[in-house]
Amino acid sequence: MALIKMEHVRKVYNNGEDNEVAALKDINLEIQAGEFVAVMGASGSGKSTLMHVIGFLDSASSGKYFFDNQEITELPADALSEIRNQKVGFVFQAFNLLARTSAIDNVALPMLYARKYTLAQMAERSKEMLVQVGLESRLNHHPSELSGGQQQRVAIARALVNNPAVIFADEPTGNLDSRSTEEVMGIFKKLNDEGRTLIFVTHEEEVAAYAKRIIRLKDGEIVSDILNTIRK
Ligand SMILES: Nc1ncnc2c1ncn2[C@@H]1O[C@H](COP(=O)(O)OP(=O)(O)OP(=O)(O)O)[C@@H](O)[C@H]1O
Ligand SMILES: [Mg+2]
Repeated sequence: MALIKMEHVRKVYNNGEDNEVAALKDINLEIQAGEFVAVMGASGSGKSTLMHVIGFLDSASSGKYFFDNQEITELPADALSEIRNQKVGFVFQAFNLLARTSAIDNVALPMLYARKYTLAQMAERSKEMLVQVGLESRLNHHPSELSGGQQQRVAIARALVNNPAVIFADEPTGNLDSRSTEEVMGIFKKLNDEGRTLIFVTHEEEVAAYAKRIIRLKDGEIVSDILNTIRK
């Protein structure tokens, strides 16, 4: 069965009477483990909303969402945050690293929340993750001492640290120049080649070109869903 399955998912933001926005209208979607998916569409088309619902940061207004065979729509909030911590990793446009904290400690943070590792285990695993993204020589650097691409690689290492079933990234290259963009997308490609499931949002065709599948949204609906045959 699919890792992710949505049936008739609708998301309505309600900012008071007569001020409803249907950000997602009727989303039907299946994503299998091991896929590498780009979500595209104009500003306001619902991309971030879709990522928030898929990543349990927000809930659907109606419809059904199954993750790893579990119906998410019926789970209480504490079960949801448990799944979020254990099964998904997030990467954001603005990196969202702690400024006064070294790369290695930023990466360790999700393990701290999981409360099942010793300090030595956390340090070892964080280092391993930073090696995976090519930052073995930057373990003790603070975010301000790293380039944008390097900061995003720290964020990717952090997203990987609990060994999630899937990584979600919302405009992961939105703040990066073209060289850092290639760096970050090269890492995503490598992670997917190793079997990791990745779903990311982008505005740029060049960046979407790395994905194996491209989903396009318009006004809260999927208007195209194709395999990317001219992959980077
Ligand atoms: N918290 C909110 N409250 C009310 N409306 C919202 C909220 N978040 C998003 N919206 C509306 O929902 C629609 C979809 O927004 P969303 O952020 O998902 O778009 P997006 O495709 O990610 O756009 P962008 O490319 O600019 O990031 C927009 O019309 C937006 O104004
Ligand atoms: Mg957005």
